[in-house]
Amino acid sequence: MALVGFGNVGKAVSRVMLEKRELFQKIGFEPTVVGIFEKKGSWIDEKGLNLPEILSYGESSPSWVEGANAKEWIPDLDCELIVEMTVTNIEDGEPGLTHFREALNSGKDVVTSNKGPLVIAFPELMDLAEKRGRMLLYEATVGGAIPIFYAAREALLVNKVISITGILNGTSNYILTKMTDEGGSFSAALREAQERGYAEADPTYDIEGIDAASKLVILANGILKIKKKLRDVKIEGISKITPEMIDLAMEDGYIVKHIGYVDRNKIEVMPRLIPKSSPLAVGGTLNVISFETDIAKDITFIGRGAGPRETSSAILGDILYINKIRKENM
Ligand SMILES: NC(=O)c1ccc[n+]([C@@H]2O[C@H](COP(=O)([O-])OP(=O)(O)OC[C@H]3O[C@@H](n4cnc5c(N)ncnc54)[C@H](OP(=O)(O)O)[C@@H]3O)[C@@H](O)[C@H]2O)c1
Repeated sequence: MALVGFGNVGKAVSRVMLEKRELFQKIGFEPTVVGIFEKKGSWIDEKGLNLPEILSYGESSPSWVEGANAKEWIPDLDCELIVEMTVTNIEDGEPGLTHFREALNSGKDVVTSNKGPLVIAFPELMDLAEKRGRMLLYEATVGGAIPIFYAAREALLVNKVISITGILNGTSNYILTKMTDEGGSFSAALREAQERGYAEADPTYDIEGIDAASKLVILANGILKIKKKLRDVKIEGISKITPEMIDLAMEDGYIVKHIGYVDRNKIEVMPRLIPKSSPLAVGGTLNVISFETDIAKDITFIGRGAGPRETSSAILGDILYINKIRKENM
């Protein structure tokens, strides 16, 4: 396999792979990492890279090739799987979109944590994967560690998922939880989220609902199998929520949450009143995703929606799944 993007998530995936070596051996999974691609250069060795050395010495490691980039290397690299973990870009999906296309076109499976290419071109990428007989898995793109796509694809296979409701952004949930539990204004809660590293210096995508809307697009396409785009999502952020609104809701037994919802007629993310006792009423940076299904009825998943290590759980789950399928078909 090759890793494309070696930031927080790429490094966490590498560390967890080293940490879980014994488990991998036990289940017959012994991966060789032949390339790790960064923006300004890459580590490449088709006999297998030394991950501990790269994690410790970075660009001073002998396998570092200054200027080697993923776009040019992916097509001819001798590997079966590309793990794409570059920055999310929902304007044009790049650089990930090109990496996905190059990988699938050259007969490689793809696992990703990068929402960008899927938000921009979900149907095209799935068609391409199918045409090439490759798999494209993206568990880490929505809900971080929570295995919703696996659940929908495998355990809930007999069900029709009718609608999906959830809290899909940990930053906005942290801010609303803070305002609910401790009072205070939106801007004070945002400042604290930034100080604690839960919010970016520019928090627009999180607080205005754009990140959650991007995830809804992936849920719509990936689980409900409807071709929705970001422009189809009705979006309202949380920046206009006041302490008075929260107090009024509380008096009636409700809390204000930033809720994403999609069914075959509606796709939206907006502040909504949720009964305090609802399974959707999760606090802090937690994510929650609830499926309404025809047979199992309602099923709700709660967990960590971000964090490099938590996210690596979803990425490695996808990698192991592909390994299992490929072995079964050998
Ligand atoms: N962090 C999380 O908890 C989390 C959770 C779920 C999903 N994700 C998603 O996972 C992806 C990675 O997140 P992250 O936190 O690891 O971000 P990050 O630390 O910013 O890492 C992204 C890496 O991609 C590299 N990169 C950019 N353009 C590249 C190119 N053309 N070729 C190769 N590498 C390139 C960046 O290099 P430079 O630094 O040199 O630009 C950076 O090292 C993002 O799409 C993110 O949305 C993250």
